[in-house]
Amino acid sequence: MNQNSDGTAHVRVQNVSKKYKDHNVLALQNVNLNIAKGKLVALMGPSGCGKTTLLNCLGGLDVPDEGNITIGDSTLSSMNEMQLTILRRQKIGFVFQFFNLLPTLSVAENVALPLQLNGGMSSKEIDARVLEVLEKLSISERKTFYPAQLSGGEMQRTAVARAIVHKPQLILADEPTGNLDSANGVAVLNILQKLCRDQNETIIMATHSPEAAEYADLVVYMKDGKLVEQSR
Ligand SMILES: Nc1ncnc2c1ncn2[C@@H]1O[C@H](COP(=O)(O)OP(=O)(O)O)[C@@H](O)[C@H]1O
Ligand SMILES: [Mg+2]
Repeated sequence: MNQNSDGTAHVRVQNVSKKYKDHNVLALQNVNLNIAKGKLVALMGPSGCGKTTLLNCLGGLDVPDEGNITIGDSTLSSMNEMQLTILRRQKIGFVFQFFNLLPTLSVAENVALPLQLNGGMSSKEIDARVLEVLEKLSISERKTFYPAQLSGGEMQRTAVARAIVHKPQLILADEPTGNLDSANGVAVLNILQKLCRDQNETIIMATHSPEAAEYADLVVYMKDGKLVEQSR
């Protein structure tokens, strides 16, 4: 059900375990998960159950002790630090709970950053792509503003713009509505859902909120580092 028709999932997590050795915490215990392309997945569970650790492993920011993760045709466990950095820049978009915008850059400059890091585009092409994405997220009127001049909802829409500007294969969102009031949270959730529907983006979103999970195609529950249940 949660696999592509040819049987190969877009994101595959196989027997992944991760221990934080200094504190003897088993943050992930034998996690298995297959996600088809174009799905919005909600990762739910109590604080400390391993949601952020799993997202970080999926994004190559953290490395599992055991098991395998593949994203498209990239097998993360066979990649070195440099290759993981390139994978993150080219194929993955991150949206964080606290937005993580650079305070000294304008909205447009924050969103342009992934394209500049990847190289290969002229500044004119970058400007055009940035404007296209800002318009899609209804934030183009704020393009010259700095993060401190934005509302929470505008900051998060800017962060979503930055996460999708390089057309990633996978978007990872860690409690993206955790710091938003409900109206702004709903706006961000609608945007994420629309990205899946219209652009076949694959999104994995950690969330505490049952309301947010209602937007998902698949809800995955975690407890004590284990995947305990999937629904929908
Ligand atoms: N850098 C770290 N060092 C030691 N323990 C950690 C570290 N990061 C997370 N943990 C522990 O791993 C478990 C899972 O944490 P986390 O993935 O952040 O959970 P969640 O995002 O679901 O709240 C928790 O028990 C947490 O205390
Ligand atoms: Mg977390």
